[in-house]
Amino acid sequence: MKTNLVVDEVNGFPCYEQLARVLDYPVARARLPRSDSTTLTITSVAEMQQWSRLQKAAGRRIAFVPTMGFLHQGHLSLLEEGRKNADLLVLSIFVNPTQFGVGEDYEDYPRDLEADTALAEQAGVDVIFAPQPSQMYPGGYASRVDVAGITDLLCGASRPGHFGGVTTVVSKLFNIVLPDIAYFGNKDFQQLAIIRRMVIDLNMPLEIVGIPIVREADGLAMSSRNSYLSA
Ligand code: PAJ
Repeated sequence: MKTNLVVDEVNGFPCYEQLARVLDYPVARARLPRSDSTTLTITSVAEMQQWSRLQKAAGRRIAFVPTMGFLHQGHLSLLEEGRKNADLLVLSIFVNPTQFGVGEDYEDYPRDLEADTALAEQAGVDVIFAPQPSQMYPGGYASRVDVAGITDLLCGASRPGHFGGVTTVVSKLFNIVLPDIAYFGNKDFQQLAIIRRMVIDLNMPLEIVGIPIVREADGLAMSSRNSYLSA
């Protein structure tokens, strides 16, 4: 069935509500960017993808900051850059089980979605994508994205399989969020280099930006895992 789109006379974009209907997205949730200060939380992969398709069909540029949550100033500096350089800002919060080795801290990794949501709202995030592991890795899941070579050095040598888990989840997140630009911290320099390699090798159509390390007053790089440290 062919559907005619109504074109918005002001900016030439196809009429938003019409688009939402074409893409079968709930019109009530298909608000225009930054028209209010509410941050939408999406937990389903299908809904996140639909939201992004809708925004991109309307000509909006999406900035993306992937995280494992328990946000601190380091994450906020990535969000601040993203806010400046796109129409819409998406933050993902997902403690990715496939990048934790056996005996690592997957279960104990700090989580606080309520506090993260408050910080995301202040940072002007449009959507928090916070899926459950079963959404990202449903029964029968069997694929993996691996970058050869640089993943075996440094952290990769002591954490076998770690970077494969990172590249797999980041590829999935890119395919779900459909960003035009994504931000990563220089703090995890090897991770950033591996993601840049993956994006070039697999022709992923987005820009990767590295952001300087944010440190505590005493010089320690900020990290969600710093909550494990005692004075
Ligand atoms: P996470 O450790 O939550 O970090 C999310 C992003 O924030 C990463 O790009 C990281 O380099 C950046 N970041 C963390 N601390 C920072 C600091 N002090 N200064 C600047 N940037 C900082 O890295 C991950 O999550 C995951 O591996 C992920 C990429 C989300 C895949 O699961």
